[in-house]
Amino acid sequence: MTRMRSLRRLAPLAACLAAIVLPVAAFAAPPPAQAGFRPPPESAIPAGPFGRMVRLGEAIFRHTGTAAPQYVGSDLRCSNCHIDGGRLAGAAPLWAAWVAFPTYRSKTKQVNTFAQRLQGCFRYSMNGTAPPLGSKVLVALEAYSFWLAHGAPTGAKLAGRGYPKLPKPAAAPDYARGKIVFAQHCALCHGADGAGRRAGGRVVFPPLWGPRSFNWGAGMGSIVNAAAFIKANMPLGRGGSLTDQMAWDVAAYVDSHERPQDPRFAGSVAETRAKFHDSPYSMYGQTVNGHVLGAPGPK
Ligand code: HEC
Ligand code: HEC
Repeated sequence: MTRMRSLRRLAPLAACLAAIVLPVAAFAAPPPAQAGFRPPPESAIPAGPFGRMVRLGEAIFRHTGTAAPQYVGSDLRCSNCHIDGGRLAGAAPLWAAWVAFPTYRSKTKQVNTFAQRLQGCFRYSMNGTAPPLGSKVLVALEAYSFWLAHGAPTGAKLAGRGYPKLPKPAAAPDYARGKIVFAQHCALCHGADGAGRRAGGRVVFPPLWGPRSFNWGAGMGSIVNAAAFIKANMPLGRGGSLTDQMAWDVAAYVDSHERPQDPRFAGSVAETRAKFHDSPYSMYGQTVNGHVLGAPGPK
């Protein structure tokens, strides 16, 4: 009797739960790239001095060459590799990075702050010079990153950080196969010579190699990072459409071309390779088409 009554009392609750659960189930399993943390919308940037600094940071991130020209030595902008202004999961988003610093980095063999990490991308990815710690450029980028991470738990490894790691390739990454992938899936935008494309003096498609691209010290110069980035994000708007093998092959092809010298150059290519590029995934110091990559001189 008591049991019957309690069941009857529960009936409306059950109906209510079903109403909640069913629509949720209908939208279950969003694609992994969209799961998890979402940064606040641009409309939520507050007024006042803090909001102005956030906006300046966003402008520097999206238009680096015009907003912070003194620190840029390439045709790239931060948002070329950290897509959608550093918002996109799977494209090394700023919100996931913000909560992960300070941290130990094997590249510097030190515990680095977030600001020092920003300096690294200026020096290598942008082939420029690092803005000084405490300079307005770094403060603005920190304010923008902090604001994008609003509400994210400090120290959490957020889904979507970095580029989704690719499994090791079935066959070793191959230049000749990569060349074919490049011609079919990349050259249209980035140019057959990898130099990118300009329209009306503006860079519309960024260079993948050559004197106006990232330098040999950059993260994208590692075939591991390039393959992961390309698989998730390229061709632009059709991320995930290449097979893993195609992503590895075209990454090897892109990273087998000449680009600006590693700013840590240690006197000779061999020594620089031994010190900073001692990995099968770095082409620096390797011979491709009769040319030693990283060697000073033409090509
Ligand atoms: C050529 C591509 C490229 C450009 C341009 C670039 N970066 Fe990066 N950035 C990378 C790569 C690759 C990584 C390493 C990602 C990883 O480890 O998964 C990285 C990492 C970072 C990280 C740390 C991410 C994390 O989760 O630890 C920050 C912060 C960052 N970049 C900021 C910047 C800023 C600011 C600029 C512009 C001044 C910039 N980047 C320009 C490629 C680029
Ligand atoms: C439809 C045009 C388009 C195609 C096709 C395309 N990309 Fe991109 N790619 C872009 C744009 C635009 C960006 C910069 C993204 C941004 O700023 O939002 C970019 C960025 C990049 C970057 C990082 C920035 C740099 O210059 O190093 C790499 C690496 C890259 N693409 C590689 C490739 C590869 C490899 C392919 C072929 C598999 C490819 N892309 C196909 C348009 C394209």
